Amino acid sequence: MFDRPGSGTSAVLVALDLGDPDYAESLEELQLLARSAGVAVVAVVRGRRDRPDPALYAGKGKVDEIADTARENGASVVIFNHTLSPIQERNLERKLSCRVVDRTSLILDIFAQRARSHEGKLQVELAQLEHLATRLVRGWSHLERQRGGIGMRGPGETQLETDRRLLGKRVKVLKEKLARVRAQHATQRRSRSRAHVFSVSLVGYTNAGKSTLFNRLTRADAYAADQLFATLDTTTRRLGGIEGASAVISDTVGFIRHLPHTLVDAFRATLEETVHADLLLHVVDAGSPDRDAQIAAVNAVLSEIGADRVPQIMVFNKIDRTALEPRVERDEYDRISRLWLSALTGDGVDLLRSAIGEHALDAARPGQPEAA
Ligand code: GTP
Repeated sequence: MFDRPGSGTSAVLVALDLGDPDYAESLEELQLLARSAGVAVVAVVRGRRDRPDPALYAGKGKVDEIADTARENGASVVIFNHTLSPIQERNLERKLSCRVVDRTSLILDIFAQRARSHEGKLQVELAQLEHLATRLVRGWSHLERQRGGIGMRGPGETQLETDRRLLGKRVKVLKEKLARVRAQHATQRRSRSRAHVFSVSLVGYTNAGKSTLFNRLTRADAYAADQLFATLDTTTRRLGGIEGASAVISDTVGFIRHLPHTLVDAFRATLEETVHADLLLHVVDAGSPDRDAQIAAVNAVLSEIGADRVPQIMVFNKIDRTALEPRVERDEYDRISRLWLSALTGDGVDLLRSAIGEHALDAARPGQPEAA
């Protein structure tokens, strides 16, 4: 059902500056996203506008420029770094005579390629169907206005009604399945908390090095790759070597800027472990020039899902790429709040183990408030 760009696809990226302060970073992220989806970027078209054009998003002249660029470079897809309405998408496809993909669809596409567990797959399918449903509904009214002139990519009206009904049914089934999986997870969490297991959750911007650190700490073979969203499922493992405590650690999906709201909702369950954790390890790529904005983006999502009250250690990773040394920093309550290490070389990982041990001891002390 999902016509996704396959590997070997060449694409033109379009990024219009509408006055967004993180325009440059967002465009750079789009290039990474495209690469993660297996697409070769052959050209980037930039532009400036006060506000999007209702019919084409870009202005007429800009659309001509995109068409020329796509033709000259033999691109089969044009990726917009924006959210397009179904009508804009359709109008653009007609004008450009090739596939047009917006940022949300591209992210969904990568999610679909990466989901590994049963729950992850269900969540991705649900997010895709919900995204598709809004398009079908609006696409339908568009076709109705042009009765008789059925669009080249849309089925007939009756077919659309059938599709909507089928879609609704599938969404219902998926939601029921997800509810069952979530209930199972809640049971697992309850039994862990009865057994006084200290639970640690890794969070961080995509590509910060969470999976690499997870592997280091658990010596498990989680999937680490230099691609965005290499991790799409919460994987929970036993965390050995923590003195005086029995602990588990969960790896979670990477966060990104401008994650569409529908996706945040769809992935809430994936982040559920995070909300219920005793300690968060917020992994940061210490060498990234975009570090501060990435930290802010992660903290914004954490507060959105109610995980901002969970104690946090900020882990500055990849120090092997910088001139920094492994070290810890404590807050005003003498708790370790920041730590520098390299998950790749292992430098400083022993500091992290002791820091987790300290937090676990603190949490076990009578009179300590329970973590949220
Ligand atoms: P997502 O699953 O996309 O959220 O990524 P992640 O945060 O789990 O990152 P992952 O562990 O997959 O690492 C991303 C890239 O950074 C990989 O190429 C790793 O090899 C690299 N990397 C991770 N830690 C380090 C480090 O300490 N030093 C260096 N130089 N590279 C690292």
